[in-house]
Amino acid sequence: MIKIAPSILSADFARLGCQVKAAEEGGADYLHVDVMDGYFVPNITVGPLVVQACKRATKLPIDVHLMIREPERYIDSFIEAGANIITVHAEATPHVHRALQLIRESGARAGLAVNPLTPLSVFRDALPYCDLALVMTVNPGFGGQQFIESSLKRILTLADWREELNPYCEIEVDGGISAKTAPQVVEAGATVLVAGTNIFSGIDSIQNNIAALRQAIAG
Ligand code: DX5
Ligand code: ZN
Repeated sequence: MIKIAPSILSADFARLGCQVKAAEEGGADYLHVDVMDGYFVPNITVGPLVVQACKRATKLPIDVHLMIREPERYIDSFIEAGANIITVHAEATPHVHRALQLIRESGARAGLAVNPLTPLSVFRDALPYCDLALVMTVNPGFGGQQFIESSLKRILTLADWREELNPYCEIEVDGGISAKTAPQVVEAGATVLVAGTNIFSGIDSIQNNIAALRQAIAG
């Protein structure tokens, strides 16, 4: 069963609670929260306070994507705020193992993300310590970017390694996911699809946009 994780980055923050509820009613599996520090990526977004607010608005598991340098400094704060999954970037800390361990010890599920041209090989060693492996399909920092086609080969490779090293690890993709790219990433082996623009600023209601993505995957 493929999971859909709407990213609130493209939501209307003045009506965040209602939009989160609409995503839940539309059959979302996770709620994806993009945290940016203006340093690891050029953009600045939200912190634990908004995770806390989302937690009050939904029963969905909160999937926190940390695009911040030295993310280990903030793991406790995001867990306290209600994060269920915390993903750190391999490029953001020299202490990837420590960060993943910290997340699991705090009772959340641990995710590791890689940017589009970061060698995938980090996952050969990291997969046993991961509950989720995130292949970025755009450069992190902004919503609404174009899907990078060469990501498909990376997802395929990672899906092979997952079979061998940790079949329980989810494979998440993030960036440029639409009714066109969703079937391609699923075919390559993705199990969790993050989508911001297409769900929150798409052509139809939030519920219908989620339904359209599901339909695209089902063929
Ligand atoms: C990008 C973020 C994504 C983003 C995806 O840095 O990690 O989660 O919201 O946005 P879309 O679906 O608009 O490409
Ligand atoms: Zn994200």
